[in-house]
Amino acid sequence: MSEILITGARLYGAGDPVDVLVADGHIAEIAAVGATAAPESARVVRAQRQVLLPGLVDLHTHLREPGREDTETVETGSAAAALGGYTAVFAMANTDPVADNAVVVEHVWRRGREVGLVDVHPVGAVTVGLAGERLAELGTMAKSAAGVRMFSDDGHCVSDPLLMRRALEYSTALDVVVAQHAEEPRLTVGAQAHEGERASRLGYAGWPASAEEAIVARDCVLARHAGARLHVCHVSTSGTVDVLSWAKELGVEVSAEVTPHHLLLTDERLATYDPVNKVNPPLRAERDVLTLRRALADGVLDCVATDHAPHAPQDKDSEWAAARPGMLGLQTALSIVVETMVRPGLLDWRGVARVMSERPAEIAGLPDHGRPLAQGEPANLVLVDPDAEWTVRGGELASIAANTPYEGMRLPAVVSATLLRGRLTSLEGKIV
Ligand code: DOR
Ligand code: ZN
Repeated sequence: MSEILITGARLYGAGDPVDVLVADGHIAEIAAVGATAAPESARVVRAQRQVLLPGLVDLHTHLREPGREDTETVETGSAAAALGGYTAVFAMANTDPVADNAVVVEHVWRRGREVGLVDVHPVGAVTVGLAGERLAELGTMAKSAAGVRMFSDDGHCVSDPLLMRRALEYSTALDVVVAQHAEEPRLTVGAQAHEGERASRLGYAGWPASAEEAIVARDCVLARHAGARLHVCHVSTSGTVDVLSWAKELGVEVSAEVTPHHLLLTDERLATYDPVNKVNPPLRAERDVLTLRRALADGVLDCVATDHAPHAPQDKDSEWAAARPGMLGLQTALSIVVETMVRPGLLDWRGVARVMSERPAEIAGLPDHGRPLAQGEPANLVLVDPDAEWTVRGGELASIAANTPYEGMRLPAVVSATLLRGRLTSLEGKIV
């Protein structure tokens, strides 16, 4: 495999620029500019003092294959991921057919390998058909070629406490993690938007914060008794942050993610009545957004996950109540984190590496991602221009669907290059 010399990069955006020589899928050498033993033949990537980070890891992506290839495929979603700076993504199980068996998870995993732009790890469903009635064969999926490491009924909550208890118990034996979409369904019947003054005034049926918080509290208790690890998907309320602080203080092994959209957007968007802003869990109040940012900085929230959710125009451009929830996220996530966390001084680039690469890799148990920028480590890397800006155009993103809530917005930070195991997957906004 040919060598790549990244010249003049700042590791984690700090210190003097250095040269990073990549060979055989690994970081072969890090030295002062001009001081590596790079061969003449090495491909040179001029970093011009840009920020080098470990490749990003997304614990929560919807790739829509199999079943809705009109909105996203493993191939187009992998391209979006590589352009967004990701080297590993977890593909949620709510496909059609559902990824609740070895055949489907192996199909997704194999497609990911064939495309080769990002490591695609299929998430297995917790219950058969996401129906919340019977446990799926977690062990068979974990032991399949896909080596499933994470299970979730995302899109649906595993609301039956007995099933959730059993899933947590099995997860310890299999050394996998259960990721909960925390939404008590009895509290969200007909719900359309964050329950509060704004929703009432605009005529949306309310989606109470307690629907999320009640399940997170319950599951922390269940995880504690099972001695299991629990991961909480897309935390959206300040009350959930309180519950997580409490559980972590008790020593519960719980981790949690927050989406870029819940770090930036509020229920102010409801006034548009534009379903591009419809998402599950819903956009919350400004107070929640500010609490989520602080909790991500403090570590009460462990990581950022996109909940990248492509939808076809006919499923989005309808009246609010009929529209599907979800928004694109893979190509905008890093920029939104810079806008909401780095610019206000809540995180430095070291912190960005922690919440977008290291912690997610740890939570899912990926040994080759989220590693230190050091000699001998796997060359899963992203180079970011922190000073550049770009304008979001849904139609220009790599996803088939175009449902971005950031249309026309000017955002900071541009991904210049992504490397997967020492091979360029994206360079200057193009797939390599
Ligand atoms: O907004 C969402 N969209 N939330 C989910 O939980 C599921 C996702 C989807 O699959 O579209
Ligand atoms: Zn979800």
